[in-house]
Amino acid sequence: MANTMKMAILIATVALCMSSLLSLVYAGANINGYITGKVVCDPCINGGKPIKSAQMMVICFDKKTNDGTYARKGITNDVGVYKIAMKPGIEADYCEVRLHKNSPWKACKGIIPGKNVTTVNFNNKPVGLSNNKPVYAAADVIGYKRRRSLCN
Ligand SMILES: *[C@@H]1O[C@H](CO)[C@@H](O)[C@H](O)[C@H]1NC(C)=O
Repeated sequence: MANTMKMAILIATVALCMSSLLSLVYAGANINGYITGKVVCDPCINGGKPIKSAQMMVICFDKKTNDGTYARKGITNDVGVYKIAMKPGIEADYCEVRLHKNSPWKACKGIIPGKNVTTVNFNNKPVGLSNNKPVYAAADVIGYKRRRSLCN
C-alpha cells in the first residue's frame, strides 16, 4: 500500500518534470533571439524622455517576395525599452519596428515622420544575450513629440 503510494507520487513527479521540461524546449525551439529598442518623447531633444507602455510591432518581410513573414507586438517598460521575441529564420528577412496604436502619453502623441518606424540590421553584432539567445538592437530610437516640440 505504502509502496503503491510512493510509486504514484514518483510517477506524478516525473510527469510534472517532463511537462515543464517540454514546455521549456518548446519555447526555446520557437524563439531564437530578441529585438530591442527604445520609445521616447521628443527624441531630438537630449535623446528624449522614455515613454512607458508604448506599443510597437515588429514586422518582417521576405526580401525577395515582399511577403510578410512575421509580426509581433511589444510594449515598453518603465524606461521606455521594448524587447520582442524573434522566430527562427527572420534574420534573413527585412524587419521593421513600427509604433503601434497611439501614444499612451497624452501630452506627447504627435507623429514625427521618420521617427515612427525603424529597421533592424541582423548583420550587426548582437548587443547582448537573453536566455542564451542574441538580442539585436533596432537601428534608431523611435517616438512621439509634444505639441510645440521642435522635433519634426
Ligand atoms: C509614419 O509616419 C508617416 C508620416 O506621418 C506615415 O506616412 C507613415 O504611414 C507612418 N508609418 C507607420 C509605420 O506608422
